[in-house]
Amino acid sequence: MCGIFGCVLKDGPAAPLIHSSLKMLEYRGYDSVGIATISDGTVNMKKDSGKIDEVHKILNLDDLPGAIGIGHTRWATHGAPLKVNSHPHTDCTGEIVVVHNGIIENFLELKSELTNLGHTFVSKTDTEVMPHLIEETLKQNPKLSFEQAVHESLKRVEGSYAFAILSTREPDKIICARNESPLVLGINGHGVFCASDIPAFLEVTNKAVMINNGELVILKADGYEIKKISDGSQITREPITIDWTPEMAVKQGYPHFMIKEIHEQPETLRNTLRIQDHYLDLLSTFLDRANEVFLVACGTSYHACLAASYMFSKLAFLPTYPVYASEFLEQHGKSVNIDSTILAVSQSGETADTIAAVTCAQQRAATVLSLTNVIGSSLTRISRVYIGTQAGPEIGVAATKTFTSQLSVLAQLALKLSKKRGKISQDEIDCLEAKLQLLPEMVNIIVTTQEEKIKGLAKKYVNAKVFFYLGRGISTATAYEGRLKLMEIAYIPSIAFPAGESKHGPISLIEDGFPVVFVCPRDDTHRTVIGNIMEMKARGAHILAIIEEGDEEIKSLADDYVEVPKGIPAVLSPIPYAVPLQLLAYYTAVEKGFNPDMPRNLAKSVTVK
Ligand code: G6P
Repeated sequence: MCGIFGCVLKDGPAAPLIHSSLKMLEYRGYDSVGIATISDGTVNMKKDSGKIDEVHKILNLDDLPGAIGIGHTRWATHGAPLKVNSHPHTDCTGEIVVVHNGIIENFLELKSELTNLGHTFVSKTDTEVMPHLIEETLKQNPKLSFEQAVHESLKRVEGSYAFAILSTREPDKIICARNESPLVLGINGHGVFCASDIPAFLEVTNKAVMINNGELVILKADGYEIKKISDGSQITREPITIDWTPEMAVKQGYPHFMIKEIHEQPETLRNTLRIQDHYLDLLSTFLDRANEVFLVACGTSYHACLAASYMFSKLAFLPTYPVYASEFLEQHGKSVNIDSTILAVSQSGETADTIAAVTCAQQRAATVLSLTNVIGSSLTRISRVYIGTQAGPEIGVAATKTFTSQLSVLAQLALKLSKKRGKISQDEIDCLEAKLQLLPEMVNIIVTTQEEKIKGLAKKYVNAKVFFYLGRGISTATAYEGRLKLMEIAYIPSIAFPAGESKHGPISLIEDGFPVVFVCPRDDTHRTVIGNIMEMKARGAHILAIIEEGDEEIKSLADDYVEVPKGIPAVLSPIPYAVPLQLLAYYTAVEKGFNPDMPRNLAKSVTVK
């Protein structure tokens, strides 16, 4: 986890830019923050535990001299979120300063070796071994340059990292390196930047250079050099233009990123409908030839995979296996083979469990395909073919617009595959394609007509101790996603089940006033769902139903309902039906006084296993 940022400016000061850039990376973790700059051959540093704004209020992070500097916003892995564990970390002399995202797996070994050599460690972090290792390398080989010392040290480090390193010996440069943790450069006429993610520098430039695993970068005010860590050979890579505007990465007047992102869905869904056909065609060709298909993901992306398994089955008659990425190795690691196909879905393209699953599959000669929102992410580099989900940067930790974008792309993929396989009639395909085109407007109608009502429902149910979410068929995936949203940002313990399973245990929890959310589009499951509603009502449950507009039957049974426009085919229903559940979670969190953008203990991009 964690966000790193560094800059070498032609004209200072670096600290205010580092501060504002770290704010854009706060979604990657916010346990502590720190900035170090160099001026007049001296390191200046401020750091503390707490969110950036809190620390800034006390320390004034902008008030550090120097045109070169690095910064860090942390999500603790090794060592509690305390000041002493905050980055940047230094060597014994305080001349070498490091920020790091990732995990140094052999840090205990290195730490004991360095301690025996007389180094003093002050933190519990794995990161601190790096400045000491560089210090030791220089002590043993005084003729080495800063870059050579970093390079030599990296050869001893095992694990994942994106480093940005400063040294007073050569105060005009930052050395960066990447293995498995994201790192990207930005460049403009005023200087060069390195960051964990593009939004960090989008305010100052849209020219970016993606850094790959196993690369070391030297940043100077007038440019950058990329080298392979393995043999030191030079790599030429020109910047690419990022078409995200800086406005896309700020709140645009909304109180939280999450609500802004919920409102963006009509637009992001429209963007998904602009995906180039040949990508869908290529991906569906691979799927068509596959003997077995695993849909691999974590969190919300897993729910998109679960929904997709219904889409592939119903539209293309292709059985697929949705698997939690963290379980993939244990469950399928040994059996996956050259005939297997993995379709990995990940908003960030950096989730460690997803990358690990895909890497394992790749090593066993399986075909790796992916869907991600971040082009240039690790996942895109591992995949044989990938498609971008076109949602733009998502800052709120709880995924919303990226979920519906994933679903839209997956539905298009299923339709493409369906055409190839000739399993359903052309008329049906044409009709589904036409319905897909209507979804952006339908979501717009939901957001504009149902938001106030949902706000009221959030008030009504805010004190519920526990929530149930039930759905049948593809709506099971929608129910799971609604449950996850409420639980992760409003901290209300919530349970989701396929409605049919609810009577095999969960129903025993029901007592008077227990809120049960039913996701009930008018599809083939409608009649059976009504039966499940009756079962719950008979035991005193309060029914909150997400229904199709004008569904009088369920209206007459439910205590509360939210209406979704008519005419959505079952396979596409998770897209509009997820939206009221996102709003319910958001307003419940707000009602409870929580910040939905920064749920406790969570991070946007989980780059540790
Ligand atoms: C974290 C985020 C979730 C996300 C999950 C998977 O847990 O908080 O919102 O769904 O990671 O992330 P990915 O980037 O792989 O979709």
